[in-house]
Amino acid sequence: MTNLLHCSVLLNEAITSLNVKPEGNYIDATFGRGGYTQSILNQISTGHLISIDQDSEAIKYGEKKFKDAISAKRLFLIQNNYEHIDSIVNEVGLKTIDGIVFDLGVSSPQFDDPKRGFSYRFNGPLDMRMDQRQTLTAFKVINSYDAVHLKKIFKDYGNAPCSWQVAQAIVKERKKQPIKTTMQLVGIIFDYLPEAVKRKKGHPAKKFFQALRIEVNHELFSLKTALEKSLEKLKIGGIISVVTFQSLEDKIVSRLFRKLAKYQDYPKGIPIIPENVKPKLELTTRQAIKPSELELKHNWRAHSARLRSAKKIRNISF
Ligand SMILES: C[S@@+](CC[C@H](N)C(=O)[O-])C[C@H]1O[C@@H](n2cnc3c(N)ncnc32)[C@H](O)[C@@H]1O
Repeated sequence: MTNLLHCSVLLNEAITSLNVKPEGNYIDATFGRGGYTQSILNQISTGHLISIDQDSEAIKYGEKKFKDAISAKRLFLIQNNYEHIDSIVNEVGLKTIDGIVFDLGVSSPQFDDPKRGFSYRFNGPLDMRMDQRQTLTAFKVINSYDAVHLKKIFKDYGNAPCSWQVAQAIVKERKKQPIKTTMQLVGIIFDYLPEAVKRKKGHPAKKFFQALRIEVNHELFSLKTALEKSLEKLKIGGIISVVTFQSLEDKIVSRLFRKLAKYQDYPKGIPIIPENVKPKLELTTRQAIKPSELELKHNWRAHSARLRSAKKIRNISF
């Protein structure tokens, strides 16, 4: 049942946005199954690529598939969280970075493997860790957070309906027996959601599962941290491109890019505009780029994808 392949989303658009130069140094912050990595490697000659993933299965796959590029030191494949992107670059020893690309979220092999516990469609352990070395799992969240905390996660990270009722139901049910599997959790959500909510479009557990995954993997914190560090590391003239899959991620990217692409406030009437208030980014995509009809026909998982891209034009420090 496990699908070992991942169909890369917005591949051409994302890689074209980087404007890859043969001698440039690049980072693929979300290796997955290496679709973006392959495309960048095809375009660099004397340049280098650092590819990062926190998932040991992704790294194992990549070490085999890209054996030659790794031994030739064209590709540095690193198992780590992209929130450490600055120290990763320092350790590899690249002096300048011409482009960084993020393709956020979960890969198909992660999603479709029941034992990873990401999907409400398959029965499996409540796990949801992208990094298997991490101690926080979905089991821990569901069986130890209090109802107020659970409700906050469901609401803030999933905008899930009846978050409070479901949070209370989880606390009640786990007193009878631990909630160990994805299907136990789906069952509780089903039992406690009103019929009217269940009749709405989409699987009733979808938003709860999304919220839980974001909590387990600290996804929003990691993204904010990684974007800031990436923008600091990128050389002037370098490009950052990010593919997001849900509105919380997209908001983080678009707000940060827009803020840095504007003049900061400064006292009116001074003769020379201070350098530090000038825009630090130039938006290379004004509106987010969405997948084409053709891509959606082949890969429905791309439907919520949005690509935003920006060029660094001045030094940035947070
Ligand atoms: C959508 S997939 C990327 C697919 C890839 N672009 C391709 O074409 O094969 C996202 C990958 O990013 C990884 N990932 C997500 N968050 C991460 C983080 N904070 N640090 C490192 N890797 C992360 C996941 O483990 C997953 O393998």
